[in-house]
Amino acid sequence: MLLQVLGTAAGGGLPQWNCACPGCAGARAHPHRRRRHASLALRADEDRWYLVNATPDIGDQIEDSPALRPGPGPRDTPVAGVILTDAELDHTLGIARLREADGFDVLATRPVRRALTGLMRLDDILTPYTRLDWRELGDGPVPLTKSGGIEIDAVPVSPKRPRYAVTPDGADDDHTWVVALRLRESATGRSLVYAPALARWSDTFQDAVEAADCVIVDGTFWDDDEPVRTGISARTATGMGHLPIAGPGGTARRLSGLRARCLYTHLNNTNPLGDPDAPQHALLGEWGLEVAADRMVIEL
Ligand code: MLT
Ligand code: MN
Ligand code: ZN
Repeated sequence: MLLQVLGTAAGGGLPQWNCACPGCAGARAHPHRRRRHASLALRADEDRWYLVNATPDIGDQIEDSPALRPGPGPRDTPVAGVILTDAELDHTLGIARLREADGFDVLATRPVRRALTGLMRLDDILTPYTRLDWRELGDGPVPLTKSGGIEIDAVPVSPKRPRYAVTPDGADDDHTWVVALRLRESATGRSLVYAPALARWSDTFQDAVEAADCVIVDGTFWDDDEPVRTGISARTATGMGHLPIAGPGGTARRLSGLRARCLYTHLNNTNPLGDPDAPQHALLGEWGLEVAADRMVIEL
């Protein structure tokens, strides 16, 4: 299985356009610290790639990845579609940027599709430009393409809705608003779990990561208090739907016990890991964990 990391930042990116926090200022001063919005590209077949989430940076992310560039025909593209983990804006705004395509697949769970077609009116707005071929996730493993080379499955994570989809009558308990993706290569049996928004560590999620060869997971915040301490929110990391990395309820403790290669992604600009010289990197190293980097290629 071949993957290319297209970006590793949380919503806003690093630097965020309207932010002068130390993390964003550091990324402006040191261009190697810049991170685009979190996304992956996955090769499903020879010359047929799927993007995992469609970020505001999607155009640059495609252009920067030789495998994703168009050709040989003037409008041939290896980008076959988009797989969504949730309906958050940082993971979906890029869909409209693909409107020059004849058509492309969008794989999403039922509530995510409903948010995008109903509230965001993506179908109505994009129909005059392109064709969205919706495919539903959430009812068990399905082949990603006809070849059956890669099988995809959604592991429910949480009922957290994007802010634009929150209703006054409160939440439903549909845990497929946010999912982790399990991607498995049939020929080798090797698998990846991708979970850029992890609100809760469930037994099903534990089963998925125990069986995986590689896990790329929510590294939005280093510790639970970070959003409050840095003044970006009144809520803790967990309260915002992101389990922190460190601390008693953190993901590092659980990931360090796995046989899989584990990498963090979706780093917020307040996360000290955005600074390559931060002492937190040594701790991660001791735990056998990594931070994913933009443009990293992962072969499983
Ligand atoms: C999140 O990851 O929690 C969301 O993307 C936050 C947001 O952009 O509102
Ligand atoms: Mn996000
Ligand atoms: Zn910032």
